[in-house]
Amino acid sequence: MTHRIALIPGDGIGREVMPSAIRCLNALARRPGLDFALSDFPYSCEYYAQHGAMMPDDGIDQLRAHDAILLGAVGYPGVPDHISLWGLLLPIRREFGQYVNLRPVRLLQGLTSALRDRGPEDINYLVIRENNEGEYSDIGGRLYDGLPEAMAIQANVITRKGSERILDYAFQTAQSRSRQTLAYATKSNGIKHSMPFWDEQVAAMAPRYPDISVEQYHVDILAANLVTHPDWFDVIVGTNLFGDILSDLGPATAGGIGVAPSANINPDPAVPSMFEPVHGSAPDIAGGDIANPIAMIWSVVMMLEDLKEHDAAQDLMGALEAVTAEGRVMTRDLGGQAGTVEFTDRVLAELG
Ligand code: NAD
Ligand code: IPM
Ligand code: MN
Repeated sequence: MTHRIALIPGDGIGREVMPSAIRCLNALARRPGLDFALSDFPYSCEYYAQHGAMMPDDGIDQLRAHDAILLGAVGYPGVPDHISLWGLLLPIRREFGQYVNLRPVRLLQGLTSALRDRGPEDINYLVIRENNEGEYSDIGGRLYDGLPEAMAIQANVITRKGSERILDYAFQTAQSRSRQTLAYATKSNGIKHSMPFWDEQVAAMAPRYPDISVEQYHVDILAANLVTHPDWFDVIVGTNLFGDILSDLGPATAGGIGVAPSANINPDPAVPSMFEPVHGSAPDIAGGDIANPIAMIWSVVMMLEDLKEHDAAQDLMGALEAVTAEGRVMTRDLGGQAGTVEFTDRVLAELG
């Protein structure tokens, strides 16, 4: 089967880890019955410098004709972040209704946790982040610019439809796992309107999933518990911003941001989902063959799962984790000396 994949390397280290992904896909495509038609899209801050936009007007339509989108990272000094991200990454998530942002946090074999005495058996949970609304709304504005009274107002939009669909996905995910628990992040003690409404949506859905034990945490103590008791957690659901923050915190305990993968999913197979590392373009290390490609390669694994190529996904993840378990070839963020290319070479050798 040929899968049509849109590649957006983007900016900074996005352009260095994308070749690692392509090499893995090319290696897997040597198998009978598996093939990828890869199309490259140059949308990036460099594209913005040339064209005055992060992508052309019909950019979303061009991407629509694919089975999946693989993205490196977006954003680079020279273009304000709200311009670059609202010009490319966020419109893709929204236009394709990729309302689930699935971010696994698992300590891979061979990696050391920043938490004392914690091993792979302690850190293995999923952060499910609402990906289309919430704190990331374009509703708001500025008043009295330049005056002492200057202010900005930003709406936090929680809709019934938006929360029901992400919560339903989270409950179903919890049901598919052995621990049958769902933790949810809220802040209904301080945020007066949107968060009590979010809590109500959870309470309304819980009776449909009687086997799932639902645990409510205010996001502040949830963040603390991810450090002190990561073993308590299995599936965590949160609104857009809370999910964003928790999904950097979690990986910080599991090898760092260089290993964290993500999937932006619209469960409707007719619409492409997008797979990308959690990290950004890392301008501080860009161009130096330093970036850890694990987050990108693991995101490819998530894409293969979504495309129902389970054997290929399992083999690629197996090769990746065999390399981390062995620990001989590691990138600098994990205490080794290897560059992006050398690490990828080692994974491909393991994949065979
Ligand atoms: P960042 O993730 O780019 O970098 C944070 C730190 O982590 C840096 O020190 C960086 O060197 C390190 N790091 C990140 N990925 C690494 C990897 N694979 N290997 C080794 N080290 C790695 O976050 P930032 O500095 O906040 O953002 C930089 C730019 O990227 C900004 O423009 C931001 O808006 C954008 N950004 C984009 C995405 C995305 O495209 N999904 C995500 C986050 C940030
Ligand atoms: C992420 C990033 C993005 C987000 C930014 C770059 C807009 O931090 O994918 O986690 O907040 O969603
Ligand atoms: Mn983030």
